[in-house]
Amino acid sequence: MRHLMMTQDELKRAVGWSALKYIKPDTIIGVGTGSTVAHFIDALATIKDQIIGTVSSSKASTEKLNYYNIPVLDCNDVDCVDIYIDGADEINHHLQMIKGGGAALTREKIVAALAKKFVCIIDESKVVDMLGEFPLPIEVIPMARSYVARELFKLGGKPIYRQGVITDNGNVILDIHDLTINEPLELEKRINNITGVVTVGLFADRKADIALIGTSSGIKEIKLE
Ligand code: 5RP
Repeated sequence: MRHLMMTQDELKRAVGWSALKYIKPDTIIGVGTGSTVAHFIDALATIKDQIIGTVSSSKASTEKLNYYNIPVLDCNDVDCVDIYIDGADEINHHLQMIKGGGAALTREKIVAALAKKFVCIIDESKVVDMLGEFPLPIEVIPMARSYVARELFKLGGKPIYRQGVITDNGNVILDIHDLTINEPLELEKRINNITGVVTVGLFADRKADIALIGTSSGIKEIKLE
């Protein structure tokens, strides 16, 4: 069936709700951050009594989970998360992603690291052949901001300070514009190695296992074997 007139938010809603099929009873769910995940949380609320609880990747998601009285567990109290549901700003065909448009990249990476399975929920506009058109977010310790910006400049991109944004961890964000990302895995390691960087929003090492894509002709699924 075709849905030619669906808006981006309708696609996000459709894909957010479609992720419910991956939620099994008596499991712990990792919950990402963003407007697509907000729809997933609405969906999760309808089956909240069937799950053990959630681990949240941001204060914003925790607030929404609390609103629905969905249990939020402390990350330090769980050994692993059965499944992690999160959005992305860009995703390529290897299911590597750019994340951090909502400044939650560090906590998102922590929950992703704990997850047995990562399901990325995106609308079709996020799927790209090569990562990098979306400015790459980097969470940085505030006193290292200028130093890190100079180091990032050497990589060939244009780092721009995200004015007025403080992360849930009390840090700042630099967004690298105009960066060519030929080797996401290498670049992720290289940027993470700069002193003062907390996390880079490249998810190439811990990429998604499954992508659910909201398209105008329905939900598409890509699974890495
Ligand atoms: C937040 C993220 C989000 O997953 C990403 O920005 C996508 O957000 P949205 O679902 O609102 O388009 O990485 O840090």
